[in-house]
Amino acid sequence: RTRVLTGITTSGTPHLGNYVGAIRPAIAASRDAATESFYFLADYHALIKVQEPARVQRSTLEIAAAWLACGLDPAKVWFYRQSDVPEIPELTWLLTCVAGKGLLNRAHAYKAAVDKNRIEQLDDDAGVTAGLFMYPVLMAADILLFNANKVPVGRDQVQHIEMARDFGQRFNHLYGEHFALPEAAIEEHVATLPGLDGRKMSKSYDNTIPLFAPRDQLKKLIFAIKTDSRAPGEAKDTQDSALFQLYQAFASADEVAAMRKAFADGIAWGDAKQQLFERIDREVAPLREKYEALMANPAHIEALLRDGAQRLRATYATPLLATLREAVGLRDLS
Ligand code: TYM
Repeated sequence: RTRVLTGITTSGTPHLGNYVGAIRPAIAASRDAATESFYFLADYHALIKVQEPARVQRSTLEIAAAWLACGLDPAKVWFYRQSDVPEIPELTWLLTCVAGKGLLNRAHAYKAAVDKNRIEQLDDDAGVTAGLFMYPVLMAADILLFNANKVPVGRDQVQHIEMARDFGQRFNHLYGEHFALPEAAIEEHVATLPGLDGRKMSKSYDNTIPLFAPRDQLKKLIFAIKTDSRAPGEAKDTQDSALFQLYQAFASADEVAAMRKAFADGIAWGDAKQQLFERIDREVAPLREKYEALMANPAHIEALLRDGAQRLRATYATPLLATLREAVGLRDLS
């Protein structure tokens, strides 16, 4: 069976970008009997950005509830928390020792930090932790430990998956064929969902629309999406319109064609926003109800996650690590 794996960093509240880039395609893939799915909460990754314990815990609960509300079936999908699987940081070290430092120098997140420091005339590495630098190696361990073939993600993660292939390939070359080489699975029209200001929707830009914002807040946020100053009756441009791209991520092909025509015919921005709100709310309203019920029972979620990690370790992680330890010349722990 094809193995599909993806994770979300537990650094904030799940937003529409996470939903269309990762959760929705991942849930769809998990319903295919020919796939085996691994979906997890990347809480080790969260520590790179967030040093507030309560926020990491809250986000873990919210993202877990979001996955379940969107239809993840824990009886069919491996569903777990990264930090419940100690084999992941152990594999991270094995991969660290084959990962090229020069390749890591080119990782987007690290390069962005360096570029920002240069603009501010600071030392290249000022304020940069080794955790941020090593981020792609930890992510490679997430993927390679379960021999994932397909990784549904937004476009921002593609480089990390290419790095995972590179590290996996080097390890295989040195120690034998232990790892499958993963590929990113990207949905073209939602690869980069824009946020309120038109830039990529991202926790770091503070421009997100929470996936389960209450209805009135969802409406308020959608009406706050940046548009140009064209008046009602003037033709609107679909290119570079955050509003149009968001609509496209939720609507059917027919609905999109109708909206494209409405843009050409000069629909008022307020009317377009109302339609976008209704379209998104139609999809998320039933999920929102489930989400609220799940959030009211954290103990249930906690139990599911622990059970998932325990079974996953026994089935895959512990045996593979034993093989890898032996392959590189370390002592057998059993
Ligand atoms: P994270 O938590 O930033 O985002 C989770 C997923 O949501 C996607 N995404 C978007 N997709 C489209 N448009 C957007 N505006 C948008 N914003 C976020 C991301 O591409 C991602 O798929 N490092 C990862 C988490 C991770 C992971 C992994 C993913 C850790 N280990 C192994 C896959 C496999 C991250 O920080 O994603």
